Amino acid sequence: MNIDNIKKEFPIFNNKVQNNDLVYLDSANSSQKPQLVVDRIYDFYTKEFSNVGRSVHYLAVAATNLYENTRVLVQQYINAKDKNEIVFTKGATEAINLVANTFGQKFLSKGDEILLTELEHHSNYVPWHYLRQSKGVNIRFAEINENGDVTIESIEKNITKKTKIIAITHLSNVTGAILPIKEIIDLAHSKNIPVLIDGCQGAPHLKLDMQELDCDFYAISCHKMYGPTGLGILYAKKKWLEELPPYQGGGGMIREVKKEGITYGDLPNKFEAGTMATAQVIAFGESIKFLNKIGIKNIEKHEKNLTMYGEEVLRKNNSVKLIGNPKNKGSVLSFTLDGVHAHDIATILDEDGVAIRAGHHCCQILHDKLGLSATARASLGVYNVKEDLDKLNESLKKCIKIFNG
Ligand code: ALA
Repeated sequence: MNIDNIKKEFPIFNNKVQNNDLVYLDSANSSQKPQLVVDRIYDFYTKEFSNVGRSVHYLAVAATNLYENTRVLVQQYINAKDKNEIVFTKGATEAINLVANTFGQKFLSKGDEILLTELEHHSNYVPWHYLRQSKGVNIRFAEINENGDVTIESIEKNITKKTKIIAITHLSNVTGAILPIKEIIDLAHSKNIPVLIDGCQGAPHLKLDMQELDCDFYAISCHKMYGPTGLGILYAKKKWLEELPPYQGGGGMIREVKKEGITYGDLPNKFEAGTMATAQVIAFGESIKFLNKIGIKNIEKHEKNLTMYGEEVLRKNNSVKLIGNPKNKGSVLSFTLDGVHAHDIATILDEDGVAIRAGHHCCQILHDKLGLSATARASLGVYNVKEDLDKLNESLKKCIKIFNG
């Protein structure tokens, strides 16, 4: 995996940011985009554009085939059994809302329980909170341990006879904890409880195999996978997609519409109402090809080495306190800096061209549990190198001088 060659595929790194070379350490938020993805959107709009699934003219048929080709690429990339288990959404947030809304509508009633964890991102909490408000269901949170990790024991002790669904992150966007999701899924299924995995941070960095995992639902954020914004993916077992009611109504998702009633379209169209993010879907096919070209195992290895290097560098900086020390850790380095607020850290680093995220990272429950109002977070992608982490540390030392004299 020749990182220099890979970095050259990302045009953003050809530009200076505030007269600095960009040190982009915010991929957990959203990744940068390879030229191939950018070009694919341009080419589609300038040479091939049509809406999909509606007209029969040449451009429409060709665009529909391109759209469906990406569905097959995604199915193969995550090893789903059936391409119709791949539903395109506006984003991972919509994918999770789709499940919470439709599963909640059909299967949940007052007093039922939803099991989350204290690590969850707001996009995997707020949609379930709506059900607490609208249907009187209860939400339990499996606790983190002192390492910012969620163990199988923490999940097990929070499962009750009323647990109707478990919804958990694959990889924490704050502590980097990679949860033992296969064990959790097996445990849940032994009690006939379906499992949704928030794969926003897992999918860009880890090998996925839906048939091996056997999860019921898996939400993916394409803009974190070197793909365009405005696009997500819901993987769902066919049996669920057949059982669940549609999430949104409109064109493209119906079979027959009469005054007295409506029948819905086949899978996955039933869940793809209206004109979809066609250009984004087609461009995301290039993202999948990009990831396949590098190889997810190479990505995992590269990012693991970088994360370990980053931990080593930051641990030597006595003013830095790393957040979380999970058993299995993804490419996320969250930390605090003695005497400096996270937003001040990010502002000073930004002056040096170092882009990180600061705040609660849409995980306020976790920050409350940690007793912190905010943390700083460096997160890695395929284009990062050790020098990026050295630059991060140099800039942190500058922070300390400015704020602590
Ligand atoms: N989920 C994204 C993050 O963690 C926005 O920064």
